[in-house]
Amino acid sequence: MYKHLTVVKHPLVQHKLTLMRQKDTSTAVFRQLLREISQLLAYEITRELEMTTRRIETPLCEMDAPVLAGKKLALVSILRAGNGLLDGVLELIPSARVGFVGLYRDEETLQPVQYYFKVPDGLEGRVVIVVDPMLATGNSSAAAVDLLKQAGANNIRFLCLLAAPEGVARMEEAHPDVPIITAAVDECLNDHGYIVPGLGDAGDRMFGTK
Ligand code: URA
Repeated sequence: MYKHLTVVKHPLVQHKLTLMRQKDTSTAVFRQLLREISQLLAYEITRELEMTTRRIETPLCEMDAPVLAGKKLALVSILRAGNGLLDGVLELIPSARVGFVGLYRDEETLQPVQYYFKVPDGLEGRVVIVVDPMLATGNSSAAAVDLLKQAGANNIRFLCLLAAPEGVARMEEAHPDVPIITAAVDECLNDHGYIVPGLGDAGDRMFGTK
């Protein structure tokens, strides 16, 4: 149905996601699960990274061994909930450069309002992985990708935990070149722009602010 969408159906991802959805899951456990899932999703989103070889010496002989090609990756977190995914991905790709896009959602219009933008130099030619747990309306995700493209990014992927069909459609329309990786696509959005059945407000649940 969606051209550039990958839903990671791995049993560990699905089990952890179910625990995260449950309203009684504590902040500490929620955050830990998000870190774990982020690494499993990152494993999928980096599957197609380009490789080259490097001449190395093992204790026994020389060999041409595989290594990642090209510039260091850039991870871009959409504040604030993106930071919950960022930590785990960064553990897996510690040499990645990191950027932040601050967008909040105007609760009446549901449109994104920018308040912060700081990204690594030389985005052109880097694989840029944008992280945000909830792809809801898709408005802030599409706006963040717009900003990154204006800053030179030309190889962007989007990593989220949960998506709504509306958000996926919005991203595919605005940025058909950006593959999306998620653990699930839920039923719909409610009138407040929340994903249903979803898991509530990801930022509040990971930071304990409600
Ligand atoms: N942001 C969230 O944190 N949760 C949703 O369901 C939608 C947007």
